[in-house]
Amino acid sequence: MSKSNKPKRSFASDNNAGVHPKIMEAIIAANSGHVIAYGDDPYTARATAKFQERFGKLADVYFVFGGTGANVLGLSAITEPYQAIICADTAHINVDECGAPEKFTGCKLLSVSTENGKLRSEIIKHFLHGVGFEHHVQPRVVSVSQSTEMGTVYTPEELKALSRFAHENNMLLHMDGARIANAAVSLKRDLKEITGSAGVDVLSFGGAKNGMMYGEAVVFFDRSLSKEFKYIRKQGTHLPSKMRFISAQFEALLTGDLWRRNAEHANRMARILARELAKVPQVQITQKVEANGVFAIIPAKYVPLLQAKYFFYVWNEQTSEVRFMTSFDTTEGDIHDFVSLVKSTLRE
Ligand SMILES: Cc1ncc(COP(=O)(O)O)c(C=O)c1O
Repeated sequence: MSKSNKPKRSFASDNNAGVHPKIMEAIIAANSGHVIAYGDDPYTARATAKFQERFGKLADVYFVFGGTGANVLGLSAITEPYQAIICADTAHINVDECGAPEKFTGCKLLSVSTENGKLRSEIIKHFLHGVGFEHHVQPRVVSVSQSTEMGTVYTPEELKALSRFAHENNMLLHMDGARIANAAVSLKRDLKEITGSAGVDVLSFGGAKNGMMYGEAVVFFDRSLSKEFKYIRKQGTHLPSKMRFISAQFEALLTGDLWRRNAEHANRMARILARELAKVPQVQITQKVEANGVFAIIPAKYVPLLQAKYFFYVWNEQTSEVRFMTSFDTTEGDIHDFVSLVKSTLRE
């Protein structure tokens, strides 16, 4: 415990975690001598090769600073301003990017409510109503998050059904994979099986939530879509001059399955947290725990008492649903301490 008597780690976000020691070592190792800036360096070549080992030789990979940027730029590459992007109402692009996708793509976001953060063709097909009609925006992209903002995961079959639907209707499938590693290990599938092979056209591949300091990648599975992307990235302010420090992190993440181990650990911690919280009579787990997020309803009067010690987000104020996230560095001790506090607080 620190002097303020606050625990060292909390359950607010996997972004609140620090940097995995192996990633930090890779950053330090990259900090030697000069290399050419803007990505024409050996670190970027090796990291790109690691991506292509996982996603196939034809995957076109671009490193960027952050996840909002990855989404905005990937979507910009495949849309025109008179088009629309279909997404869940809970999607990060819809609620947590301050309107950046609308501002930078010019597209309208068409959002639908879902039970579990997942899209299905049945709940989005009504958006095709105005196709070809000049008074309506033209749906061009279906965007999914994997894992979703509700901690659930699309199976490869669900993704294939969505990509089939999108492609049959002249649309593309975009995936916000800020937590793609958590989804892959949850499904026990390779990264490619739940992206390119499932029909995803453009992927935002997350690094920061899985142990990196910063940096995400935009991966195109069809090079005809990425022809102009180098200009889009630069104009979109996401061409890092010292690219090697993002590349070195990705190389470390994708070497020796560090990405997998980090995500497996975070997911396992989420399952334990959910199991222990479910034993507390007044706590109700609201979503399947398929990745590293746990959603629960906790009676509203107790929430500030818990937040005084452990910061976390209220997801739905009406229902008092809160979100807990685990990360690569969560320990069983952290869970024990937190659940003990929940138990004693909810008895008060
Ligand atoms: C689902 C999802 N997508 C994308 C992001 C990327 O966000 P940032 O721009 O903060 O890196 C986040 C971050 O919380 C996220 O949860």
